[in-house]
Amino acid sequence: MPDFAGKTVLVTGGAAGIGRAVAAAFAVAGAKVVVADVRKERTVAAAAEIGRGAVPLELDVADVANIGVRLTKLADEVGRIDVLVNNAGVFGMEPLLNVSTENFDRLFNVNVRGLFFVMQAVARQMKSDGKGGSIINMASQAGRQAEPASSVYAATKAAVISFTRSAAIALVKDGIRVNAIAPGVIETEMWDRIDELYARQYGVAAGEKRRQAGAAVPIGRMGTPAEIASVAVFLASADSEYIVGQTLNVDGGNILS
Ligand SMILES: NC(=O)c1ccc[n+]([C@@H]2O[C@H](COP(=O)([O-])OP(=O)(O)OC[C@H]3O[C@@H](n4cnc5c(N)ncnc54)[C@H](O)[C@@H]3O)[C@@H](O)[C@H]2O)c1
Repeated sequence: MPDFAGKTVLVTGGAAGIGRAVAAAFAVAGAKVVVADVRKERTVAAAAEIGRGAVPLELDVADVANIGVRLTKLADEVGRIDVLVNNAGVFGMEPLLNVSTENFDRLFNVNVRGLFFVMQAVARQMKSDGKGGSIINMASQAGRQAEPASSVYAATKAAVISFTRSAAIALVKDGIRVNAIAPGVIETEMWDRIDELYARQYGVAAGEKRRQAGAAVPIGRMGTPAEIASVAVFLASADSEYIVGQTLNVDGGNILS
């Protein structure tokens, strides 16, 4: 396992699901972890459970006007950020012809605008002291394919893949490596919401969409948050030094590219 002793890792959306597993994995690897999430109590609880000096940070990534100031203050408190896992994201589902401007804006504000300006603020810090760093954005298999029931979500994740490519090339000469992960179907609370939305909109039994999604994966099951976390640790480590601007599919074989 790579050693992150002396490194600080910021994980957005770190209070639950994939983000929480990522934060825990970096803490086990020796890093000081900042668990950043919009849900204050869950954030404090997650940091306490992860232990090993994990620091909770209440942060709404969609509040882009304040992100620069918040992250500068964070750097004053915990030192430079060596690794950013830009993971906070929200899901939404509406048939294409019913997509509302409210849902469209909510998804783009968090998944694209928030992700971009967190990445920009952290990259500015990483560049300013010349020490570089690693940025890992959380995309999705949805960003690589047609998703008629959740077209806006899919478009936000396509934007994440695009920004990952552009940022990787813009920043690589500064020693900042940018990559992304495209998870497939991963067992988290997000799936409670997806399942509930399917049951309501398509009249399928509760739990059915989740069961179908897992059964349809070539490997035969949904993934676990820990299976995404280990890839995030790899992408932040020197073991992946020659991987730049890639979005790695971690999906049990769902998408082959
Ligand atoms: N679970 C999956 O199957 C799956 C698949 C592909 C991609 N993803 C992506 O992985 C990431 C994590 O998903 P998850 O399944 O763990 O979801 P989750 O809903 O279980 O956890 C997401 C976390 O992000 C936080 N969050 C939401 N909005 C935020 C904001 N504005 N600022 C800060 N934090 C915010 C939530 O409070 C929550 O703790 C998301 O970007 C998601 O789109 C998930």
